[in-house]
Amino acid sequence: MNESSQGCSLQRLPSSTVKLISSAQVITSVSSVVKELMENSLDAGASSLEIYLDEYGLDRIEVRDNGRGIPAEDVQYMCQRSYTSKISDFSDLEKLSSYGFRGEALFSICAVADVSVSTISKGDPFGRTYKMNHNGEVIETKAANLDRGTSILVTNLFKNLPVRKQFVTSGKRKADEMKKVETVVKTLALINCEVKIRLNHNKFTIWQKASVCSIMRSFIQVLPPSIVKQLKEISYKDEPEHMEFTLLIPKKDCNIVTTCLGHSSEAVFLFVNLRPVREREIEKVIHDKVFEYFGTKIPSRKCPAMLASIILPPDMIDINLEPNKTKVMVKDVEKITKLLSDQLSIYYYGKDEDEIMKEACLMEPPKGNYLIQAFKSVQQEVEERFCRRRRL
Ligand SMILES: Nc1ncnc2c1ncn2[C@@H]1O[C@H](COP(=O)(O)OP(=O)(O)OP(=O)(O)O)[C@@H](O)[C@H]1O
Ligand SMILES: [Mg+2]
Repeated sequence: MNESSQGCSLQRLPSSTVKLISSAQVITSVSSVVKELMENSLDAGASSLEIYLDEYGLDRIEVRDNGRGIPAEDVQYMCQRSYTSKISDFSDLEKLSSYGFRGEALFSICAVADVSVSTISKGDPFGRTYKMNHNGEVIETKAANLDRGTSILVTNLFKNLPVRKQFVTSGKRKADEMKKVETVVKTLALINCEVKIRLNHNKFTIWQKASVCSIMRSFIQVLPPSIVKQLKEISYKDEPEHMEFTLLIPKKDCNIVTTCLGHSSEAVFLFVNLRPVREREIEKVIHDKVFEYFGTKIPSRKCPAMLASIILPPDMIDINLEPNKTKVMVKDVEKITKLLSDQLSIYYYGKDEDEIMKEACLMEPPKGNYLIQAFKSVQQEVEERFCRRRRL
């Protein structure tokens, strides 16, 4: 702490500082810009997205879509903090069906980069390009050659954050960040099966996905087909509870070694209401069941590819936990993990979890005092788990 700040009285930060501090938390990297722009395009109902990066995104990030566009009367607010077309008040979060809801992303991107937005919406005679300033205000308007959708161009990223700019421009980090961009693009593309998506870097197309009709077909465009062909799809729907899930897990008779990727964070794809998220309890139940079945056949430090897409009533989830919305809190998570565990047990063992536990309880104890004692404690543990499950 320096002398001038010691003992100094409380003071309100200038709004420009507040803006920069909070924006730098939302927009942390090239991949976070790509994620926010893609989510906006998907929220706008686009069926086709083109992503262009120059020099790893440091010279240019541009996302073009064919979505509904931004109406002329909304343009002055689109990059203003807390302006959103997706919710009207907090209670709307209980019926949220969009990726965005905070009205913060474009405002934050404007605060740390140069932004211009080209858009045309229904009824507009022609498209326009709007140049924005760092406060998210329109400073220039001109006609644009655009027949549908929106294109957002971001240049000079982090020009007012020298440490971050230097960090992201250093040699190896540029390549690492490019991998993260690919992961963001592929993950959102994977779950939005019907949307056509193309990622270009320095005038080359480095990845693209056609519009397809199922998660399995989408997965084939993200992972090698030799892996995906070895996965089994399990679907479950509980209509009264408005709950459904799709699981892609290694087939019982697959060559498990060839389905393996690196660490579980690269191999386990979890989506809740079409949002790529991390939720430890749900991931763990799927991961553990697969590892329990294949056991030591799985090479150490590897994890088989698996995917879970869970659709829940929006009021069962809280996504407002982190600025980047990648963590989710799920109400009654035990009920969901039990359902998942049962479906996995039925596929791998032909019976659900309760039946497996019941059978374990009915097993004859082995002979010999030491073994009997050990057996009894295992049996007791199984009974307790069984009773706990019953109470859920
Ligand atoms: N590609 C797009 N097509 C149509 N409208 C868009 C597009 N991008 C942004 N908008 C409009 O601009 C508004 C502001 O976007 P922004 O990303 O800042 O906020 P948000 O998506 O509402 O919430 P969040 O900050 O959580 O992403 C959106 O609510 C939407 O109305
Ligand atoms: Mg958004």
